[in-house]
Amino acid sequence: MTRIRIDPTPAQPASYDVIVEAGSLTRLGDIVQQTAPAHRYALITDRNVAAHWKDPALSSLAAAKLQVECFEIEPGETSKTRETWAALSDRMVMSGFGRDSAVIALGGGVIGDLAGFVAATYMRGVPVVQVPTTLLSMIDASVGGKTGVDVPAGKNLIGAFHQPSAVLADPETLVTLSDFELRGGMAEALKHGAIADAGYFDWLVDSSRALLQKETATLTDLVIGSVRIKAGYVALDPTESGPRAALNFGHTLGHAIERATAYTLHHGQAVALGMVGEATVGEIAGLTVADTSVRLSSVVGLFGLPTVLPAALPAQQIIELTRHDKKARQGAVRYALIGRIGELAPGHAGQWTWPIDDRVVMQALHSLGAPL
Ligand SMILES: NC(=O)c1ccc[n+]([C@@H]2O[C@H](COP(=O)([O-])OP(=O)(O)OC[C@H]3O[C@@H](n4cnc5c(N)ncnc54)[C@H](O)[C@@H]3O)[C@@H](O)[C@H]2O)c1
Ligand SMILES: [Zn+2]
Repeated sequence: MTRIRIDPTPAQPASYDVIVEAGSLTRLGDIVQQTAPAHRYALITDRNVAAHWKDPALSSLAAAKLQVECFEIEPGETSKTRETWAALSDRMVMSGFGRDSAVIALGGGVIGDLAGFVAATYMRGVPVVQVPTTLLSMIDASVGGKTGVDVPAGKNLIGAFHQPSAVLADPETLVTLSDFELRGGMAEALKHGAIADAGYFDWLVDSSRALLQKETATLTDLVIGSVRIKAGYVALDPTESGPRAALNFGHTLGHAIERATAYTLHHGQAVALGMVGEATVGEIAGLTVADTSVRLSSVVGLFGLPTVLPAALPAQQIIELTRHDKKARQGAVRYALIGRIGELAPGHAGQWTWPIDDRVVMQALHSLGAPL
């Protein structure tokens, strides 16, 4: 079993552990009891996850003699709304959940964000234990305490920082995850290697076959490697005001590409394209060593992620959408850039993102196949 400690911060006075172990779902009851003792537990999950993993979770909680009620929602991003948040909160009130309750979020990032936000706001905040079941949520969404919902004006615009009492990642749950979702999650792992650890990036490449075949031991090593990197940034910058911006590599273009395709691409597919595009941006701006984008593109392809933009996606439309990203500031849009695989671009102290002229971005998008 590997425990990755997330140290105390101003936003999270107590530390918590990310526990990564194949088969650990069977120990959910004990872990919940130790890390989030409560009178009653609301287990929040979605219908897909419930079909495979609700019973093992409930039996472990029952074995620890915990009082649990399960709340199941429809799967998918369309459930991550204020309406579902309100319905879940109301159902908990109706069921008599008090302040001495806790939430268990069993599912992907949608469940983690939504159930985390229910916990953040329920009676001014109750503990949450995150039990991520997608690769993306194990290595990204469940760690760091960001919770929230989407609104018509955009994704994740309403939310709160609410750090979990514990995160329990059981890579065995990934056996039922679709290949499409698994590959999407791989993009975030590649991002972790690209911003922070060339050795990890190379290991991902060498292990690509085992990873895509869902070998549990190799997936476990990936989750440990990625969580260590993400945890390092979260500890440095719990409320995302400085260095955590590095985790946004590939995401300024990625979010714009996602929106330009009306979210028909998986987030990971858009981030894969975003990383290749932003490496090109860095090369043109003289911040990234030559051929980094070529290497990233070939690795992204190796993991079955796209390397060219979907047809007929004009560069100008994507550029306009980068301006709508909530992280964009006034003037030139700022990008988190790498200097080479495994390292951020060299900047001076306190500078975590770089302002980039639209013409540079335009050129990079053309090299990703965008028409004029
Ligand atoms: N809080 C954060 O820091 C953070 C970071 C990144 C992403 N996110 C959020 O995460 C969400 C995306 O998360 P996601 O990619 O995990 O999507 P998701 O939660 O929608 O899960 C993807 C699909 O896989 C199914 N699924 C989940 N686990 C399964 C399993 N083990 N077996 C079979 N099916 C399974 C789900 O039912 C769903 O249909 C987005 O809303 C995004 O905004 C949050
Ligand atoms: Zn992402």
